[in-house]
Amino acid sequence: MSLTVNAKILGTGSYLPEKLLTNADLERLIDTTDAWIVERTGIRERHVAADNEFTSDLAKVAAERALQAAGLSANDVELIVLATTTPDRVFPSTACLLQNKLGMTNGAPAMDVQAVCSGFVYALSTANAFIRSGQVKTALVVGAETLTRITDYTDRGNCMLWGDGAGAVVLGATSTEAGIISTHLHADGRYEEMLFVEGGGTCGLGQSPKMRMQGNSVFKMAVNTLDAIVDETLQANGLSKSDIDWLVPHQANKRIIDATAKKLEMPTERVILTVAEHGNTSAASIPLALDVGVKDGRIQRGELLLMEAFGGGFTWGSALVRF
Ligand code: UT7
Repeated sequence: MSLTVNAKILGTGSYLPEKLLTNADLERLIDTTDAWIVERTGIRERHVAADNEFTSDLAKVAAERALQAAGLSANDVELIVLATTTPDRVFPSTACLLQNKLGMTNGAPAMDVQAVCSGFVYALSTANAFIRSGQVKTALVVGAETLTRITDYTDRGNCMLWGDGAGAVVLGATSTEAGIISTHLHADGRYEEMLFVEGGGTCGLGQSPKMRMQGNSVFKMAVNTLDAIVDETLQANGLSKSDIDWLVPHQANKRIIDATAKKLEMPTERVILTVAEHGNTSAASIPLALDVGVKDGRIQRGELLLMEAFGGGFTWGSALVRF
């Protein structure tokens, strides 16, 4: 009889660039106040990549830290799935650039996943499928972004949100119960106009890429959609709200996270919140928050984690993980 194969998180890691952009700095750039930003978003500061730091550089440090935590070396990795919406180049993929920077020469497949803020959940789900199907035994899953490079610092409607950073997990095949229990992915491509990058890509050649967002409409869609994905995840696994030990959400806006926590009847102490210090780092925000919760000792082995995200596309999804 063959044993069920699960994908277990063997180690986590993250990296934040040194430079900070505080709300006080933004008060000097746009017509805003620290009080407005804190009240409407919960954000106090965000990290900004140095001029010579690119998404693959951030990813490299996060990946090295995750590998160290897992007790593995880079050439033990049999698959890289990297989620980003700010790749170093159109091609090669940032996953391939990362593979080279990690010194990997074992020929492991490497690919990017583009699902904007839901990217990490999409990447985790992809790597989980490779492991569960027996194609690989070890996978490196990374979320990495340099969003400040595509931020329009004349647009006070969204420029206060975005930050740079990277987070990574190493997954390993296991026959124990620990690991990724289920993932739930969705997309609805009808809402391009609400959240997109103007310029860049093949329809905006020669134009510097900048994020555009109808913030309030996206906010409402995010709250309602995350409400539904929480129900879907619990129902699919026959769980009740009280079974979840930790909510590890995409860090878009503290008010969106509060709404999901309320839906789950979870006290703030059971939510890993990094939005105040990291801002919204898109695909990097969940693995960054996970690493913070693991390294400070709050998240313990055997606990049940719910990760969820909503972002451009629109895309949304969740992952239920027995850590
Ligand atoms: O990561 C996944 C996708 N993204 C998200 O999930 C983000 C979703 N959206 C949001 O987080 C929020 O919509 C924002 C934080 C972007 C905006 O907050 P809001 O509560 O939705 O504000 P609003 O856009 O409805 O604007 C309310 C008021 C407006 O003034 P009036 O028209 O009421 O006089 C804005 O002009 O706040 C004004 N405003 C600002 N005031 C000070 C907008 N931006 C700013 C600002 N500083 N930076």
